[in-house]
Amino acid sequence: MAADWTSIEALPSPRLETLFADDPDRLSKLSLDVAGLHFDWSKTHLTSEAIAAFEKLAKAQDLAGKREALFAGEIVNVTEGRAATHVAERGEGKAEDVGLARALHARMRALIDAIEAEALGPIRHVLHVGIGGSALGPHLLVDALGRDSGRYDVAIVSNVDGMALEEAFAKFDPAATLLVVASKTFTTTETLLNAESVLQWMSENGVEDVYGRVVALTAEPDKAIEWGVDETRVLPFADSVGGRYSLWSSIGFPAALALGWDCFEELLEGAAEMDRHFRLASLSENAPALAAFADLYYTQVRHAETRATFAYDERLRLLPSYLQQLEMESNGKGVTVDGTLLDRPSAAITWGGVGTDAQHAVFQLLHQGTHLVPVEFVAVIEAGDTLAEDHHRQLLLNAFAQGAALMKGRANDKDPARSYSGDRPSSTILLDDLDARTLGALIAFYEQRVFVNATLLGINPFDQFGVELGKEMAKAAGEGGQKFDVSTEDLIKRAFG
Ligand code: F6P
Repeated sequence: MAADWTSIEALPSPRLETLFADDPDRLSKLSLDVAGLHFDWSKTHLTSEAIAAFEKLAKAQDLAGKREALFAGEIVNVTEGRAATHVAERGEGKAEDVGLARALHARMRALIDAIEAEALGPIRHVLHVGIGGSALGPHLLVDALGRDSGRYDVAIVSNVDGMALEEAFAKFDPAATLLVVASKTFTTTETLLNAESVLQWMSENGVEDVYGRVVALTAEPDKAIEWGVDETRVLPFADSVGGRYSLWSSIGFPAALALGWDCFEELLEGAAEMDRHFRLASLSENAPALAAFADLYYTQVRHAETRATFAYDERLRLLPSYLQQLEMESNGKGVTVDGTLLDRPSAAITWGGVGTDAQHAVFQLLHQGTHLVPVEFVAVIEAGDTLAEDHHRQLLLNAFAQGAALMKGRANDKDPARSYSGDRPSSTILLDDLDARTLGALIAFYEQRVFVNATLLGINPFDQFGVELGKEMAKAAGEGGQKFDVSTEDLIKRAFG
């Protein structure tokens, strides 16, 4: 039976400033502190009435039951007939799943210890090839936390465009490079081609036992062994860990290697703290739930088609692209879990950028364009740089001022071009500091928010059949012998004759 959205659709929509004027406690009601993260939704149109309506919908959609099913390791990915055990990777799932995750983490740690002890030779460079969930997560971690670790230089190469690999080749010494092949399925053509080219580069540059320098991260260990990786350097993870939820598993290997094992464990602990909050807090005080309620209010009631995240911190510059996969591959669906067509918009298109740069590029549309775009600011109180305090102060003040300006606007009756309508929603996530623990909590928050969105929409966030057709057609084009439409045939002819 389709969910009843009538009371949500009937919610009044006063201006944000009116909401603040009418309720002196608005800020305290719509802000929360969890795991070193401060959340502020007071500049969204969420109200106690809206939250109550969403709680009703959550009940009708059995959010509590589905959340328990997720943590209990039940089959929540119904179209693929499996559980989604990323929570077990951080110690919060079913005992059996947690036990398996711990055993596989121990294997990963042992290999890291061996590499540190130079058992594979003097490794200084780590060339990680993988794509989508097998690249975006580790890339975000290494970029956010590993800049000055000084342990290993890491390059994460995903694109099959050879220029991406050549950039890494130019920086790295083949004799001191470890190749890390990350692929859940170990069938992804881009990753396997990139891996073969790295082996060739090593071999052409005098490395004798190239396979002796390869580590594989995969849920298909047999395929990795068949491809040539020694069994002792295959780090498996459970098939029930989805690709875009896999940075907690062996897919996080380059981050654990570059940042150190303690740091990786802190990441898992931060995520576990957010998981416990998600599992135990009532919905009106539950960060992933409140964020999802705001998301759904804007997509379903106010018909917002997009949502933008701006990281006001260079260390988080990869967060928007990480979130694009997490949110769009999870919730970009047109079918409900029971196989009927979704009768309403699915997830918003996720986009964003880095502040303050984005202010001078895309914020014009946010302030005066005709689209409604809920904005999320993510910033860190403790500075990452060591320059004079002015830099970080300006950075944060800019983030806060943008949210204030979006809400307040400024009327100019004489000159409409200089008028700002205001009443444009934003939320803010402020981290005390950016370390492994807070980053783990932040990423887990986003994962659980995706889960709440999916559950309230009645869709499965854990499959991704939408990417299959394009993959199949690219393969068919490569193999030849298949006739495409005239336009595609013409493009192939122009490129290859
Ligand atoms: O793009 C689709 C996808 O299946 C993603 O879900 C996944 O993260 C990515 O490809 C890479 O897949 P694999 O890890 O199997 O190489």
